Amino acid sequence: MLLLCSTAFPLVYDTAQAANFAAAVMNRSSGGLSYLDKQFKLNSRADAESMACEIEACPLLSFLELRGNTIGIEAGQRIAQALEKHPELKHALWSDLFTGRLKTEIPPILRALSDSMMRAGTTLTELDLSDNAFGPIGAEGIRDFLCSPSAFELKTLRLNNNGLGAGGVIIADCLLAAHANAATAGRRFALKTFVAGRNRLEDPGATALAKAFKKIGTLEEITIPQNGIRRAGIQALAGCLRFNKALRIINFNDNTCTRNGAIAISFSLGDLQQLEMLDLGDCLCRANGTTAILAVLVSKQFPQLKEVNLSGNELPAAVVRSVLGAWSKRPTVTKLRLSNNGFGGEFVDLVEEIDAMQLADVLDMGEMSDDEGTASEESGDEQEEEEEGESTDEEERRSNPDSAGDALAAAFAGMGVQQLHPTAAAPAADAAASTHAAAAATTPFELSFLDQQQKWESEADAESVAAALEAHPEVTSFVLRGNTLGIDAGERIARALEKCPLMKDCNWSDLFTGRLRSEIPIIVKRLCGAMMSAGVRLRSLDLSDNAFGPIGSESIKEFLESDSAFSLEELRLNNCGLGAGAVVVADSLSTLNARALAAGQKLNLRIIVAGRNRLEIPGALAFAKAIGAIGTLEELTVHQNGIHRPGMIGLAKGVAKNPHMKRLSVADNVGGWEGALEFAKALSNLRELESADFSDCLSKNKGCKAIVQVAVRLPMLQVLNLSGSELTSPVAENLVKAWSQGRRDKAILNISTNNLSDDFDRLRSLAASLGRKVDLGESDDDCGSLSGSECEDGDEEGDDDVDTSDGEKYSDESEDEDGYEESDEEYEV
Ligand SMILES: *[C@@H]1O[C@H](CO)[C@@H](O)[C@H](O)[C@H]1NC(C)=O
Ligand SMILES: *[C@@H]1O[C@H](CO)[C@@H](O)[C@H](O)[C@H]1NC(C)=O
Ligand SMILES: *[C@@H]1O[C@H](CO)[C@@H](O)[C@H](O)[C@H]1NC(C)=O
Ligand SMILES: *[C@@H]1O[C@H](CO)[C@@H](O)[C@H](O)[C@H]1NC(C)=O
Ligand SMILES: *[C@@H]1O[C@H](CO)[C@@H](O)[C@H](O)[C@H]1NC(C)=O
Ligand SMILES: *[C@@H]1O[C@H](CO)[C@@H](O)[C@H](O)[C@H]1NC(C)=O
Ligand SMILES: *[C@@H]1O[C@H](CO)[C@@H](O)[C@H](O)[C@H]1NC(C)=O
Repeated sequence: MLLLCSTAFPLVYDTAQAANFAAAVMNRSSGGLSYLDKQFKLNSRADAESMACEIEACPLLSFLELRGNTIGIEAGQRIAQALEKHPELKHALWSDLFTGRLKTEIPPILRALSDSMMRAGTTLTELDLSDNAFGPIGAEGIRDFLCSPSAFELKTLRLNNNGLGAGGVIIADCLLAAHANAATAGRRFALKTFVAGRNRLEDPGATALAKAFKKIGTLEEITIPQNGIRRAGIQALAGCLRFNKALRIINFNDNTCTRNGAIAISFSLGDLQQLEMLDLGDCLCRANGTTAILAVLVSKQFPQLKEVNLSGNELPAAVVRSVLGAWSKRPTVTKLRLSNNGFGGEFVDLVEEIDAMQLADVLDMGEMSDDEGTASEESGDEQEEEEEGESTDEEERRSNPDSAGDALAAAFAGMGVQQLHPTAAAPAADAAASTHAAAAATTPFELSFLDQQQKWESEADAESVAAALEAHPEVTSFVLRGNTLGIDAGERIARALEKCPLMKDCNWSDLFTGRLRSEIPIIVKRLCGAMMSAGVRLRSLDLSDNAFGPIGSESIKEFLESDSAFSLEELRLNNCGLGAGAVVVADSLSTLNARALAAGQKLNLRIIVAGRNRLEIPGALAFAKAIGAIGTLEELTVHQNGIHRPGMIGLAKGVAKNPHMKRLSVADNVGGWEGALEFAKALSNLRELESADFSDCLSKNKGCKAIVQVAVRLPMLQVLNLSGSELTSPVAENLVKAWSQGRRDKAILNISTNNLSDDFDRLRSLAASLGRKVDLGESDDDCGSLSGSECEDGDEEGDDDVDTSDGEKYSDESEDEDGYEESDEEYEV
């Protein structure tokens, strides 16, 4: 009548873990007994006799499932006696086993069962005591067992809904003891799954568990929802996460993380690349805590991540908006749950934006009726919680005067974050941790806030960014492009940067929209100073699209001349309005080069991008001097800089000394044919050149011819752009033939927007018949053709260039006049 020693295991688990459970059960199929939901009420030994006999008679008892029955002390003793015959037992599935029993009855029963297993030398891999309301004293009942060799093999411990309360500390201490005892016995206690939802663990329980988990280091699942854990407990737990790199499931649902707890969690997340599920629903992470979490989640792959629950966190719409783009680029489909937040009036808009980005399947916004209105409506509650946080900060500050004035630093002090610093971690930590530190020194790690359109004003605004940096002293790449940074926020980030000595790549382009010109240099200088104090060896710095103007260059001067820039390979300052400041930047590069040489180090500056900066002649000559001395450039982009003839000639001479140049653009400056001749000379040295843009440089017939004569023999060249050079048709015809017949590859010569007039169509047919290697553009763009007037209009838009392009303008500033006024025809062959 009873289910006997079956090898099939009934899969009647009603919880959401059914799937997991079913999977785990596959490995239990080797045999056992299940009395699932038989509703037996066994009080006396006699009541338990038949079950005990079956247990005793079972040839191989791998699992014993008793859920859904109730046993008393005497019955428990009889079953315990039967268990003594089964040292092979692995899975003790004893959830919901004491309905209607007194709390005082339960510990003796648990003790009897565990004593007999210990006597038999049983080594459990799974113990499930969930849904037994045994309270704190229940923990006493399994204490000895958990510390004994019988628990050394334990992989799964389920204590859901046990009313543990203060008993949580006992369990945690047992786990710690198990770990230590196993180690003493030359074994490894390797717990993988810990489930203890609804237990009133609170901060002491959470803190004790965190301590144990940190030591154990093998956790794959920590499921502890609804435990009244507050910030301190969460911070402790957050600190242990990164020591458990195999973590797949983290469920802290319905505890109180607050902003600081969430930030603390974000510190560890980056290391958890096996993560599958993160549930922080109803955790009061709020905007800034959530931002910190999301920033980490989108800055790394997390190839297994399937679900993130941030429902009920009082989030404003902006937080969701800021992550949409990045979330749509996640490498895997990852559900993001966001119901019951504070989107208020923006709910509908947000849903539309999510639809428009085709993220509707991935982002779960819940029902509008569940939305809790705009976050500010809830501010009373929020205030209270933050105040609680603050008073704790206050205490910490008092006990740690060093970090006074920096509440968050104080709050973080307890989390051992700084210890992740490779040099600091190595001596202290165990082998695993130091291996990690060593790996960190070489593994690239990017922290990206790209295009989030955040407005960081105050230090508090920048907290999540700074916190993310502080959590990852191993960061090598830091992207802030597409946000706007103010002085106070910049100061906060700078302080964090000081702790990131491994930084290699900084992409800080487009970072100051709407800022005053006077503000920007202060911020840039502070950030650069922070990197110098950290002793970074920077590889690339991108400050493009920041209109910091001439004084902006002073703000990077010190950095550019420092040891931290010896390693610089890439400097991007496109569209910064440098103007006269360009000389400062270029001179700094010269100084840097000289200092590096003096220090016995060779610079390897490969890329300089400084288009649209009004470099003009002085700037161009200063850059020419710098790059001429450096000699390692592979890319120089200085288009649209109002550089006139002497500047272009000087630049060409500097370029000539960089034989590895691959990409060169001097487009839209006013070199005239003399500039072009000098560049033609330079080109003969640039055997690795792949693309050259001399468009809109007024190179004229003579200059174009000289350039083509050299370029046609450059082996790597793919594109030569001579658009807008005021070429006329006879020379153009020569060039089309020379290029088409001279090049055996597919390299393109672009001579659109010149002055081919009536010959345009003929030359285009010629180019086509010779293999389409020369692009003449559209006849509409040709200046001599019917619609040539449009072209003139076009020229007028860039008036400075037109003004200065007419040759006469040069006369006052240029030393040698001869030749410029000579007609191009003279040079035709
Ligand atoms: C079952 O056991 C095998 C071998 O020990 C293991 O690789 C697998 O992950 C286990 N499956 C489950 C669901 O625990
Ligand atoms: C996500 O969190 C919310 C809020 O705590 C909770 O109601 C919901 O059940 C969770 N969703 C899932 C799928 O776990
Ligand atoms: C959180 O960030 C917002 C801006 O994103 C800021 O206005 C607010 O002051 C921050 N709150 C705290 C407590 O730092
Ligand atoms: C900075 O980011 C922008 C936008 O993603 C990109 O185009 C640029 O190349 C980056 N700069 C560097 C140095 O990688
Ligand atoms: C050539 O120069 C023109 C004008 O500066 C520009 O619009 C075009 O993109 C360039 N083409 C190539 C292939 O570089
Ligand atoms: C040549 O330059 C024109 C603009 O000047 C541009 O539209 C065209 O794409 C370029 N041709 C090639 C082949 O790159
Ligand atoms: C175009 O060339 C013709 C001669 O071929 C010349 O008369 C004319 O002025 C030129 N137009 C421009 C805009 O350079």
